[in-house]
Amino acid sequence: MDSVTRIGVFTSGGDAPGMNACVRAVVRTALSHDLEVMGIRRGYQGMIEGDIVEMDAKSVSNIVQKGGTILKSARSDQFRTAEGRATAARNLKEAGIGGLIAIGGDGSLRGAAIFYDEHQVPLVGCPGTIDNDLFGTDETIGYDTAMNTALDNIDKIRDTADAHDRLFLVEVMGRDAGFIALNCGIGGGAELVLIPEMLSDLDEVKRQIRSQMSTQSRSAVVVVAEGDELGGANSVAAALRDDSSFDHVDLRVCILGHTQRGGAPSARDRVLASRLGVAAVEAFMEGRYNVMVGIQDGDIRLTPSRNVWGRKKAINYELLKLIELLR
Ligand code: F6P
Repeated sequence: MDSVTRIGVFTSGGDAPGMNACVRAVVRTALSHDLEVMGIRRGYQGMIEGDIVEMDAKSVSNIVQKGGTILKSARSDQFRTAEGRATAARNLKEAGIGGLIAIGGDGSLRGAAIFYDEHQVPLVGCPGTIDNDLFGTDETIGYDTAMNTALDNIDKIRDTADAHDRLFLVEVMGRDAGFIALNCGIGGGAELVLIPEMLSDLDEVKRQIRSQMSTQSRSAVVVVAEGDELGGANSVAAALRDDSSFDHVDLRVCILGHTQRGGAPSARDRVLASRLGVAAVEAFMEGRYNVMVGIQDGDIRLTPSRNVWGRKKAINYELLKLIELLR
């Protein structure tokens, strides 16, 4: 392979607080190694449409503290097709881009691995998703901020739950993973947590809520991951409303939704994103392609991209026990 003098950086999938800090780190580290950097806007879709801009040190000024992503993001259906990927590869070649740094979640890294197999564009991935569901890293960029945003809202909801003796079902994001729900459940003192990683039996859920609301307090907060087994907070609420034993319960649902995706990144996310951005460029310079940079026990580690999306990161089941013990 000819030596690479120009790389492209892009953000893909759901935006996550800290993506900008990562873009900044990638751009400035690459420039310090005399690599030119192009920004590919709107992820893979921008790659297909040739939406590519030049980046310099100044183009990433004043973004380390900002949520969202200056490069914009997208979920591209076209990139799922071989034709779309071939167009993307052609556009990269025309723009003189010989390598890529991708910042995104599971779907984005899966796309990256397929793209590498088909077109051999050297690529290093950075884990960027609020869901924290990527194998190969203890934490993903955006997870800490999202967790704190959700927790802040759960605290507020608890005030109302307590003031009105209500049962609140609070739904947090996490399509396939319960990391946000589980940790916010502990931090917010939830009476119950429902996550995709555990089998939820509706009768048992009802029993636990009844027991909490009669013995402990007249209010309760249940944190539900959007991807839980029972179909999310609205489905659980519908089932409770259908049950006459809950007739006396004043029940409300609050879906936190996309409030968890935006906002200024936490200190932890800014540092993580900066470290990962630097590490991604350094891995690239060393010729370590088709890998994802991650953080494990505080240290930077590289994991082959195909192991990332092929494997599921486990939650810490000990934490589930804490919910029961401490409620
Ligand atoms: O992957 C991050 C995430 O926020 C998930 O938790 C959620 O299910 C999904 O993205 C929502 O995606 P969109 O913003 O495309 O609806």
